[in-house]
Amino acid sequence: MTEEKLERLLQEMTLKEKIGQLTQLDVSCFSQEGPVTGPTAALGIREEELWLAGSILGTAGARETRRLQELCIKRQPHGIPLLFMADIINGYKTAFPIPLALGCSFDERAAEITGDCMAEEAACAGLHVTFSPMADLVRDARWGRVMESTGESPYLNSVLAAAMVRGIQGGSEPGAYAGHLGACTKHFAAYGAPCGGREYNTVELSERTLREDYLPAYQAAAREGSAMFMTSFNTLNRVPATADQWLLRGILREEMGFEGVLVSDWNAVGELVANGVARDRREAARLAIEAGVDMDMMSGCYMEHLQSLVEAGEVSEERINESVRRILTLKNRMGLFEDPYRNASPEAEKQGILTRENRKKARETAARTMVLLKNEENFLPLAKDESVAFIGPYTEEKHILGAWSFFADPQECVTLREGVERITDGAAFARGCNVLNPGQKVYGFRYHLENTMTWEETEEMIREAARLAGEKKKVVLALGESNLLSGEGGSRADITIPDVQKRLLDAVARANPNLAVLVFAGRPLDIRQIQQKAKSILYVWMPGTEGGNAAADLLYGVRTPEARLSMSLPYCVGQVPVYHNEFRTGRHTQDGAEPENRFLSKYTDIPNAPLYPFGFGLSYTGFSYSPVRLSKESITRQEELTAAVTVKNIGAREAAETVQLYLTDEYASVARPVRELKAFKKVSLKPGEEKEVSFRITPEQLAFYDIHMRRLAEPGEFTVRIGHDSTTENRAGFELL
Ligand code: BGC
Repeated sequence: MTEEKLERLLQEMTLKEKIGQLTQLDVSCFSQEGPVTGPTAALGIREEELWLAGSILGTAGARETRRLQELCIKRQPHGIPLLFMADIINGYKTAFPIPLALGCSFDERAAEITGDCMAEEAACAGLHVTFSPMADLVRDARWGRVMESTGESPYLNSVLAAAMVRGIQGGSEPGAYAGHLGACTKHFAAYGAPCGGREYNTVELSERTLREDYLPAYQAAAREGSAMFMTSFNTLNRVPATADQWLLRGILREEMGFEGVLVSDWNAVGELVANGVARDRREAARLAIEAGVDMDMMSGCYMEHLQSLVEAGEVSEERINESVRRILTLKNRMGLFEDPYRNASPEAEKQGILTRENRKKARETAARTMVLLKNEENFLPLAKDESVAFIGPYTEEKHILGAWSFFADPQECVTLREGVERITDGAAFARGCNVLNPGQKVYGFRYHLENTMTWEETEEMIREAARLAGEKKKVVLALGESNLLSGEGGSRADITIPDVQKRLLDAVARANPNLAVLVFAGRPLDIRQIQQKAKSILYVWMPGTEGGNAAADLLYGVRTPEARLSMSLPYCVGQVPVYHNEFRTGRHTQDGAEPENRFLSKYTDIPNAPLYPFGFGLSYTGFSYSPVRLSKESITRQEELTAAVTVKNIGAREAAETVQLYLTDEYASVARPVRELKAFKKVSLKPGEEKEVSFRITPEQLAFYDIHMRRLAEPGEFTVRIGHDSTTENRAGFELL
């Protein structure tokens, strides 16, 4: 519809109808028959108000969304269609690897493909918006939701958040969305930095850290035209994000230029009362609407109180109109006024979901995200005719989709065993133990997992597995944390594998030290015990529907590992947060240097360095780097320079290398990171082949928030390092005049 028509519609709507548009309800509110009781009553919503809601979340499926849409249009005084939204995080029915794994691809194309596939599948099923990407920077492996982020680098996160938005929305044309979804970037802001890694906890960040490290990825998503943004649950500067005018109006709208729809997180408006910044739900509604929150997800505060706030003159109707206009505009851009069902139909679902092509893409993407951390004596790849025992709870586990896969069916997952059996029939298998400790129970959102076995029964299984291990030439152990131990509400203080798996590891390694370990996880785990015992380690994360095929492809060398850690793998939990772009202290030191000097910035019992650093990952081949060549020794603020290296494949296999560029500002008016990822490029090289890889370095890349909070590049010396990972010392220096 034309803008004039939309404006006319807005004029015709009653205040009640308008407030309805600002309300998003979970599908469960619509499933009850008869008078409103249960959850909807608790939200303060009356039955006649239910169908005024502007959006429903948490359901998908062409039949169901069409049914609800039809009912809604019939009951809405102006027949305004609903927006259907849900969490499609790493896939709808075809699950791709979790976002943290996707980060390890260092590949924007992979992110775009993931976004594209999941949006196309979900659009067939009647969805309009996905609550993705999560652009929250993460540094703390205790937090369960690190799985939903692409990691610790502001730069990598920015590249991948933009790519996800492009993929989800079907291109960078704002408002196109054809056959795709709108992206809802979340959680604004800094939700990824809860104190102590504890879910929903307070966030304490300086404004400089917020702007320098946390905001860039959200900014990149906004620039890419993300249709929506979501507020975060946390407080920042002691102010809950959902009530923070400085953050939402000042930074998101004015500075970042975001013009789309801003939704609260689930009941985040209602929680302003629990946060202790609103006296009651009425005040909560006022604070959120004043801060600029357009849509209230599942608190009911807007529906219950906005009308009386307007009538009392505490909130202007113009303020309400502003938000309604944004929501109607999104509906209009999606074409819902012309076709409220878009392309959703059971036929479209049949043709477009879990297709062979999507599975193939999921398999290739998963293989690009699995990080080879160790490979002594070229233990991997395995030969098809080698005698190998595959042992461990993850050999036949189907819960490898990631904690946020609500719509994908674990039964569609290819397990490791199935993947291996498609390549060779010579392997033997044993479970060894369950993922959880005997007697352990973990609660999820829709289901729970429980290990009802006893320790005695388990010990017998472990003995059997060790016997099998002893009979074979090599062993591959598939271990890890439960799918439900990451994701929302998945904070952990102990980030090792469960005790029962440690016992299995011990017993198997004793029986046969020719051992590789695959780690299935939603976070970087403390894998020291594994590292001591295994010759080879492949970190496979939660790899999605095609996980078993992808892992088998890498194990047998059908493909070559190329992924790099998007988050440092800590030595142990005591070191967390640990990240590559930390700051210099007055007493900085290298591990092992000056052991007699007590007064240095170090631990007395563990190293400072993570077990595996950011950017690290091995291949089945090797690469050599020439020294860094710079086109100039100095530049002015109007100039740029080129940094180049020649990279050579010195092994026997064709493979991809991710060439990484790190910058260091040697001195400035404020402390600068020891180094920061600023660019990367992937090159594919045949055995013996070499290529020049060059990067432009611009004054923009050298800019930061100075002592007066002005963003600029200060004159001085810079070091550029180019190499295989964040520890590279292949460097050259230049000066900014
Ligand atoms: C999460 C969001 C999610 C929303 C809707 C909340 O609990 O924090 O990330 O999009 O629920 O499911």
